[in-house]
Amino acid sequence: MSAEPAVRDAAWWKTAVVYQIYPRSFADSDGDGIGDLPGITAHLDHLAELGVDVVWLSPVYPSPQDDAGYDISDYQDIEPTFGTLDDFDALLAGMHDRGMKLVMDLVVNHTSDEHPWFVESRSSPGSPKRDWYWWRPPRAGMSAGDPGAEPTNWRSFFSGPVWELDEASGEYYLHLFSRKQPDLNWENPAVREAVYAMMRWWLDRGVDGFRMDVINMISKDTALPDGHELAGAPYGDGTPHVLCGPRIHEFLQEMYREVFEGRDALLTVGEMPGVTVEEALLFTEPARREIDMVFQFEHVQLDQGATKWDVHPLRLRDLKASLNRWQVGLADRGWNSLYWNNHDQPRVVSRFGDDGEHRIAAAKMLGTVLHMHRGTPYVYQGEELGMTNAPFHGIEDFRDIESRNHYTEALAAGHAREEVLAGLRAMSRDNARTPMQWDAGPHAGFTAGTPWIPVNPNHHHVNAEAARADPDSVFHHYRRLIELRHTEPVVAHGDFTLLLPDDERVYAFARRLGDVEVLVLGNFSGDTVPADVPDAAAWARAELLVSNAPAPDPGAPLGLGPWEGRVYKRRVEAG
Ligand code: NOJ
Repeated sequence: MSAEPAVRDAAWWKTAVVYQIYPRSFADSDGDGIGDLPGITAHLDHLAELGVDVVWLSPVYPSPQDDAGYDISDYQDIEPTFGTLDDFDALLAGMHDRGMKLVMDLVVNHTSDEHPWFVESRSSPGSPKRDWYWWRPPRAGMSAGDPGAEPTNWRSFFSGPVWELDEASGEYYLHLFSRKQPDLNWENPAVREAVYAMMRWWLDRGVDGFRMDVINMISKDTALPDGHELAGAPYGDGTPHVLCGPRIHEFLQEMYREVFEGRDALLTVGEMPGVTVEEALLFTEPARREIDMVFQFEHVQLDQGATKWDVHPLRLRDLKASLNRWQVGLADRGWNSLYWNNHDQPRVVSRFGDDGEHRIAAAKMLGTVLHMHRGTPYVYQGEELGMTNAPFHGIEDFRDIESRNHYTEALAAGHAREEVLAGLRAMSRDNARTPMQWDAGPHAGFTAGTPWIPVNPNHHHVNAEAARADPDSVFHHYRRLIELRHTEPVVAHGDFTLLLPDDERVYAFARRLGDVEVLVLGNFSGDTVPADVPDAAAWARAELLVSNAPAPDPGAPLGLGPWEGRVYKRRVEAG
């Protein structure tokens, strides 16, 4: 008899898996080379077969597309390139019919500069909406436009200063991202009310929650102090003054009361760059009524130096230490997202795995290790196929504003072109944004036209049609991992114990719930390695729940082949 204890709480998303769709690159139904909503609707069976519970849709709102949709000019409509509100309703119905939920991207730290709110705000310093954004005069004693006259020395996440001069008024406005993404002023209650009303409108339409873009940036230090100078750059670091600012918890609690209170079965996830474990606990502690889970970045910054373009090899022990801290820190209260990929990250099989000889094994092993942690796993489109980084050559191959701005700035600062391109090839967000590879045909079945960014040439062998037909594919391995989260309570709810913290090749941990124990092993190398975990001989005889290689001989010492991953399960004395 199993002695699995009652699960600590009934939050439905603890057993859920989320799939992220980046609409521009998912499926194009009308041949304009850009993905769209009917394209997604036509492929819902792919997601249903995979078994995911929730789809997070990157922004589909009207947008000048300066930052690929994260610059929104109307929160309550659909970008015409992507379709109409009717198309949206059809997509939502298609998901609900298949038992899947739909989570919208909520981008309310900033709008587009073409949003009517900003157009009005900019129209004059006396505008009733002037205070909806962060307008400031030049630095004391300086004139508008003078070098260094910006109100603070902060650097934008997309290169250059965070302040843009409005010639007409002689004042600057704040934009943490591109100059076409002015930051909303959440200090103004009218801004907050307008955002909450918009959120309620989407929930009333039937959506199931929000992924909240850089939501820990909405409360800023209103004194706007300069940041400490960044090495080798004419800017300072503004992040201490904009991440998790003084009113962040107050704002999220207010949002909860105004938008979510009394509505059931929703999901709220806060994208939070730079969030600490301690802060995450405050954000996700259910009794505080803020959000359900954070989406944090520590583990995807371990292969970087001072900037994301300064790429270092990953040290496995750093990855284990980081993920372990989050597992331990949120063990009793709070909740975390689990991911390798999203639309801002290079493809994990190229980054932390092997996208050559061992691509399939590495993709499966990486998925296994991630999905067996505690938290809610996210699958980014194409990850379930083992899609890889793309072969970019020159700057003309890149589309992303962050990548292109960095290139211009780095070259102007005297960096060698090849060195800059090497950083872009490894880290550019465009690696995640090449079209979904549906089949081996022209443009991978993504479009009948010319894709907005070329498809990866490896779609001839890396594609959904082939993967779905092959029981040994990465797709079917992910299907099994998702099934395990649904069927094995220990995977969703068990305790976590890291093993072999210093092993540079083997990632090992145990999960435990009542009398059920699971051992997870992943070889992050192309070598054949021993797995010297405690009780190895007994584990070698345990039930193999999932693996990416032929089952080892019974009684063989516990070890792993190149990029091998395995999950064992056994019953132990309850205690
Ligand atoms: C985070 C999003 O994931 C990214 O794609 C975007 O560029 C920034 N926030 C700004 O909205």
